[in-house]
Amino acid sequence: MLGKREVTKGEMSEREMGEEYQRIVILTGAGISAESGIKTFRASDGLWEEHRIEDVATPEGFAANPRLVHQFYNLRRQQLLGDAVQPNAAHLALARLEAEFPGEVLLVTQNIDNLHERAGCRNVIHMHGELLKSRCARSGELFPVGGDINVDDVCDCCNLAGSLRPHVVWFGEIPLLMDEIYNALHQCDLFVAIGTSGNVYPAAGFVREAVAAGAHTLEINLEPSAVQSMFAEKRRGLASEQVPRLVGELLSVNSMTR
Ligand code: APR
Repeated sequence: MLGKREVTKGEMSEREMGEEYQRIVILTGAGISAESGIKTFRASDGLWEEHRIEDVATPEGFAANPRLVHQFYNLRRQQLLGDAVQPNAAHLALARLEAEFPGEVLLVTQNIDNLHERAGCRNVIHMHGELLKSRCARSGELFPVGGDINVDDVCDCCNLAGSLRPHVVWFGEIPLLMDEIYNALHQCDLFVAIGTSGNVYPAAGFVREAVAAGAHTLEINLEPSAVQSMFAEKRRGLASEQVPRLVGELLSVNSMTR
């Protein structure tokens, strides 16, 4: 097993695809769900589904207009639960990797949709929360949500109206399960980022941690991300094409070398 160690530059450049890996960390972003019909965030107009990010994705926005914010996420939830949104080939390939890879695979997603789980992934960290959960702002307790959340809904734990919020990490809030993620990054020998623009920290900084741990680093994205220079290897193209190809490579190398 490869543990955390110091790696020289020369050693790092020798790591490449085709090697046997034992501990993989995969980070996914909105790009992996784009081909499932869920819009990415950073469209050229800077708006997210016609709204300013500050209005719908910050604690201040929620305090100023909780009705609007609930409505916004209710629409996203309705879309996610509609028949048109289904896991695509990239989600399915990652589920196959998790099931068949002989080493460890940790999937960390910035996405709040449930497409990784619907594809069959079990070991998923939703660092930015989950659309299909609500949270009591007083106790932190989580509840499954299959429909809309409204400002006058009464919370099951505190019996108060208005204390439920979407279980979504907004700008200015701390992402979830960071200790577990950093721990995995510091042990990994392969880090892959898929469909993320590299604009939002701390996720955009994960590649740096993986490089420091001596891991091979690979970016799969349609276009260069804001942190693309940190990656040893880049593959450009659709996640639905690139991810199944990568998973095929990883599984065939590991079956040959076992
Ligand atoms: N295949 C591969 N990459 C794609 C595809 C695709 N089919 N479609 C889009 N992309 C790429 C885009 O080129 C872009 O670089 O996916 C990236 C998506 O970037 P963002 O929309 O910025 O999404 P993400 O990086 O996940 O955003 C991070 O920001 O708004 C917050 O909390 C929100 O989790 C989100 C975080």
